[in-house]
Amino acid sequence: MEQNSTLVSGEKAPMLTVEEISVSYGHIQALKKISIEVYPQEIVVLIGANGAGKTTLLSSILGVKTPSSGKVVFEGKRIDKASVDRNVRAGLCLVPEGRGVFASMSVLDNLLLGAHHNLANKDKNLARVYEWFPFLYKRKDQIARTLSGGERQMLAIARALMSDPKLIMIDEPSLGLAPIIVNSIFDILITLNREGYTVLLAEQNAFKALNCAHRGYVLETGTISLSGPSSRLLNDPGVKAAYLGA
Ligand SMILES: Nc1ncnc2c1ncn2[C@@H]1O[C@H](COP(=O)(O)OP(=O)(O)O)[C@@H](O)[C@H]1O
Ligand SMILES: [Mg+2]
Repeated sequence: MEQNSTLVSGEKAPMLTVEEISVSYGHIQALKKISIEVYPQEIVVLIGANGAGKTTLLSSILGVKTPSSGKVVFEGKRIDKASVDRNVRAGLCLVPEGRGVFASMSVLDNLLLGAHHNLANKDKNLARVYEWFPFLYKRKDQIARTLSGGERQMLAIARALMSDPKLIMIDEPSLGLAPIIVNSIFDILITLNREGYTVLLAEQNAFKALNCAHRGYVLETGTISLSGPSSRLLNDPGVKAAYLGA
């Protein structure tokens, strides 16, 4: 699973730039002037404990929450005031925490829901998704509830791919899954990354996520406390003590 952490290219422009955004829920300030960058072809992980602000950051990038200050720029265009719908059309997607699969709908209907932004390419995208996840084809008429937790996570990723994204954001994909299943989820993210997708991941499972990602940011109560290549974060004494159980 080890990734090459030297991939970050100084020559390329970032695909995504988050510049000093602040986000509040009423009087709770969840993000305090957060800045991150994601370059094309990277896997970047946001590491942080419960309540650190990971979900808020991903939802603010997608456009679910509007920052009170700061900017979000995707492929050179400012998107922090754009609608979710527009941002999905522009190439962003979010696989939400808890996966957001519709349990009482079939696998196929779940996938088709992901295609509503991009109906023109629906058949092509469906064929591609079935190639990556053959079990989804075999079980396309099955009700999503009957899938295992890991399979539902894969369905949620597959559904996101139906919108033809450039940047896939995934919120805590490993939550509640057995270690061996977590490995296969991260393997899929690495495969998708090699196919050309850029990935921004939020995780509490720091060790596995850093082994999958090229770079990471550590989020602590709404601020970035540390960032760098995964190999450096894996060896950082503070990260080891706080997140790697060392
Ligand atoms: N809908 C909400 N209303 C009020 N406070 C919220 C809401 N969602 C998150 N928060 C608060 O914002 C902070 C960041 O939460 P969140 O982004 O969910 O963190 P994480 O995803 O890292 O667990 C926490 O203090 C949390 O309690
Ligand atoms: Mg969260």
